[in-house]
Amino acid sequence: MPDDAPPRPKTQPPVAVLTRQDPKDQAARLLEHGCVLLLPDLDFDTAGFETAMFAEVSDEGAKNVSYNPASRELKGTTASGPVREQLTEIVARYCAWAEDLVGELLPGYAATLQRGRTSWRPRSADHNLSRRKDDRRLHIDAFPSSPVQGRRILRVFRNVNPQGESRFWRVGEPFADHAGRFLPTTRSMAPGAALAMQALGLTKGRRSAYDNLMLQLHDQSKEDDAYQASAPHWDVSFPAGATWLVFTDGVVHAALGGRYAFEQTFYLPLEAMVDPAVSPLKILEALTGRPLV
Ligand code: SIN
Ligand code: FE
Repeated sequence: MPDDAPPRPKTQPPVAVLTRQDPKDQAARLLEHGCVLLLPDLDFDTAGFETAMFAEVSDEGAKNVSYNPASRELKGTTASGPVREQLTEIVARYCAWAEDLVGELLPGYAATLQRGRTSWRPRSADHNLSRRKDDRRLHIDAFPSSPVQGRRILRVFRNVNPQGESRFWRVGEPFADHAGRFLPTTRSMAPGAALAMQALGLTKGRRSAYDNLMLQLHDQSKEDDAYQASAPHWDVSFPAGATWLVFTDGVVHAALGGRYAFEQTFYLPLEAMVDPAVSPLKILEALTGRPLV
């Protein structure tokens, strides 16, 4: 494999299209360098599941239906009985499908990749959320209660809209530009805060200085109206039937609209990357001049 990493294109959307016939050996490099990897022609069979999937199953209080593959527990839905069983079955099937896909496309990640939650996203972007929770605003992903301590967040999405409607995203500036913009207004955690949050059960594990900075980048960008109005971006649409993979901790993104998508989250230890130097952790450590985990 050539050692020269594909540069993230500046004049066109950072989306790389990969079909079944293409060699897969560039997939990891493209993702690591901030591309969204779009696979338009994969099959995922939803036949027989229409009732469970497209009925009104989402709980009003929840953004998405969320599935924990370890416990097989489904949250964020009011579905019960056979509908709940069917829904659990298809979400679990998507989880396995996404895992197989990552194994095929990114064999170098497979040995250490950790499986996170699976989600079913039956609703369009919600207009009634606070700015911080509003995924229609450009942001990088960071989770308040689940610190990653430098691990990458890799997500596999699939649009299964039965009416053939696209899912609409906006993709923003490269991570280093984004971090450089918001870093000057971030703050360090108070001494003892990470330990206290863990002891109180507010975080699963210890929030690192890295997690603290990433959360602030997430919150500050979403809360900045001027940034949202003027930030560099490309609008991208994902047609029904499309699958896309992206490191959502390193790619500035927003979901503007579209209903009915699956998403599988994975966590990747930095050491598994082809080029850890381009990770958000290493970029933030270079910008701040100190270790962050
Ligand atoms: C997000 O991660 O911001 C939401 C992406 C989506 O639901 O398409
Ligand atoms: Fe996001």
